[in-house]
Amino acid sequence: MQTFDVVVIGAGPAGYIAAIRAAQLGLSTACIDNWKEPGGHYALGGTCLNVGCIPSKALLESSENYERVQHRFKVHGITASGVKLDLAAMLERKDRIVKKMTGGIAGLFKKNKVTWLQGHGRLLQGGTSWKLEVKGAKGAETVEAKNVIIATGSKPRHLPGVPVDNKLVCDNEGALAFQEVPERLGVIGAGVIGLELGSVWRRLGAKVRILEALPEFLGAADPAIAQEAWKIFTDEQGLDIALGVKIGDIRQSKKGISIQYNTSDNSSNTFDCNRLVISIGRVPNSESLGAENVGLKIDSRGFIEVDKNCRTALPRVFAIGDVVRGPMLAHKGEDEGVMVAEIIAGQRGHVNYDAIPWVIYTAPEIAWVGKTERQLKEEGVAYRSGKFPFAYNGRALGRDEPEGFIKMLADAKTDRILGVHAIGGQASELIAEAVVAMEFGASSEDIARICHAHPSMSEVMREAALSVDKRSLNG
Ligand code: FAD
Ligand code: NAI
Repeated sequence: MQTFDVVVIGAGPAGYIAAIRAAQLGLSTACIDNWKEPGGHYALGGTCLNVGCIPSKALLESSENYERVQHRFKVHGITASGVKLDLAAMLERKDRIVKKMTGGIAGLFKKNKVTWLQGHGRLLQGGTSWKLEVKGAKGAETVEAKNVIIATGSKPRHLPGVPVDNKLVCDNEGALAFQEVPERLGVIGAGVIGLELGSVWRRLGAKVRILEALPEFLGAADPAIAQEAWKIFTDEQGLDIALGVKIGDIRQSKKGISIQYNTSDNSSNTFDCNRLVISIGRVPNSESLGAENVGLKIDSRGFIEVDKNCRTALPRVFAIGDVVRGPMLAHKGEDEGVMVAEIIAGQRGHVNYDAIPWVIYTAPEIAWVGKTERQLKEEGVAYRSGKFPFAYNGRALGRDEPEGFIKMLADAKTDRILGVHAIGGQASELIAEAVVAMEFGASSEDIARICHAHPSMSEVMREAALSVDKRSLNG
């Protein structure tokens, strides 16, 4: 029986990073994963690399270029005629990027001497060490581990009674691989996936309608950002979003799919479409893990129970990433992976859950870190707020990205930055400055005093900081 210091179950961003960090720290490490790519071969990288972050961002970039060349080049004095969409080539590019990235992890495992165990992992028995079963193409084997890290991730939540075939009715997997642009696309759920993938197919020519149960748009974002995003996505870009809907019958026929839904005024509506994407959140992968064999605690929503350091109640068993509480974000899982590997190696691991950035890769992008204005109000925190638009920034105008703004919230007494919220071009990159500032406990004045390159989009961050003290210089 093979014995390891650490066995990780799951090779998504949480698990593969945990495995690499553990190996870097001199621990003999194996990582079990059961993901198979469409060709039937085992592939590393989990949801993120195979059907999540990476392929969606590839398609977002391609579709944004398609939209720009058609509609936004004119302003630069460039007219393009005969612009054609080669969807097959676009999908191939996405698949090549995925393959390169997943293959890259296999290379990293080799380099760091992480043993890749292909198949389904399950806890069998505890004691002074843990026994795990790995069931793969060649049958089942048992391995032994001093420490176990569970990083089994999550899967899409489906609607009861609506089977997903990933052809007509899809979750993220099918929605990343339509072989033709659907004429009419229905999307249930105006969350992150609905907005990102809805944007992709709208840009490529589909008539998209997004049906959202909640009456409020983007409830997790700062209200000012959500308001601006609503204006841009619906009024300017023509994304059709209905809020406060209750989904009724979903019927499939040869012609397509018919979705019946009620709106908040109780009127009944129907949307007929050629494809449907269901993006109503994700659920943790915690079943068939052998939890019952060892007494691993799983809460009523399926999340493995852990403390702030991702320890389960079982000795030397940790759980990280989407399968535990907290935002379902790749970088949150990665940081937990590093923390846990370092704790196992006797170091002090740490994740600052207050400084985890969120990014929605629409155009314009949305990004934030820290508290929203609504949260501060609810918590009774006295704060000051500053906001600066991209429309006053020379680089943003040069890039033809005048939409949006950055808003900074700082403690009224200490001036410490409590939250930064951005909607605009490059927001995904700009937010990094705010994350660093918050990690270092910076004040808005600190950002206001730092020299920012001119002309650059980052000047908007500085102006937002200056405007907390009502002294922005360019607006
Ligand atoms: P996963 O990536 O889900 O990996 C878990 C792995 O464990 C999988 O390979 C699974 O097959 C394997 N596994 C499960 N059970 C077992 C078992 N018993 N034995 C063996 N193997 C097992 N996040 C971002 O931060 N940025 C983004 O831009 C972003 N975009 C996204 C876009 C889409 C369309 C989707 C769906 C998600 C996106 N996410 C994004 C979320 C991100 O993908 C997840 O937060 C992240 O993948 C979670 O990582 P993880 O390692 O916890 O789990
Ligand atoms: P989500 O939680 O972001 O959004 C789901 C939406 O569906 C919510 O607005 C919810 O109110 C709505 N909803 C739920 N049930 C419904 C119903 N019956 N009818 C209509 N609407 C309903 O989940 P989503 O978009 O599926 O994404 C899952 C997760 O994946 C995200 O929460 C995020 O953690 C991660 N992700 C991250 C991305 C990023 O970081 N850029 C991109 C894509 C996904």
